[in-house]
Amino acid sequence: MAAVKSMQDLFLHTLQDIYDAEKQILRALPKMAKKAGTGELKQAFEQHRDETQGQIERLTQVFEMLDKRARGMHCHAIEGLVEEAKEVMDEVEDEQVLDAGLLSAAQAVEHYEISRYGTMIAWAKQLGLNDAAKLLEETLEEEKKTDQILNKLALGNVNRKAAA
Ligand SMILES: [Fe+2]
Ligand SMILES: [Fe+2]
Repeated sequence: MAAVKSMQDLFLHTLQDIYDAEKQILRALPKMAKKAGTGELKQAFEQHRDETQGQIERLTQVFEMLDKRARGMHCHAIEGLVEEAKEVMDEVEDEQVLDAGLLSAAQAVEHYEISRYGTMIAWAKQLGLNDAAKLLEETLEEEKKTDQILNKLALGNVNRKAAA
């Protein structure tokens, strides 16, 4: 971790982390959509891929507000979560069980993002970066909505079919 001496530094560090995380997610979602058997799940992944593109754009705006170049710092946490999603894709053969696994992997990603954005919004407000906080809040709402959509799919029929 580059020298973090202040709360501003920590905010920037976390911004770089989530910027890289979103880019990793942007690459992973089309692969997950391709593997998903349930049409609604495929659609949810595709829709969130498009949202993720917009989220990256918002992050570049936050970098601009800080007068910093948009730059990522490798996010190990998301690398691990994406790696686990890959394991599911490689190892689960039954299509229904695969969907349940993909859903759970995607929800783990959303929960990580919800945690990160929640923290960054609190820090932005504390640092008086209210415009940045507003942008980050828009993204947080999308992450929460995505998690809810996934939850509904899981509890609606994906888990039931996987267990049948
Ligand atoms: Fe995201
Ligand atoms: Fe997300």
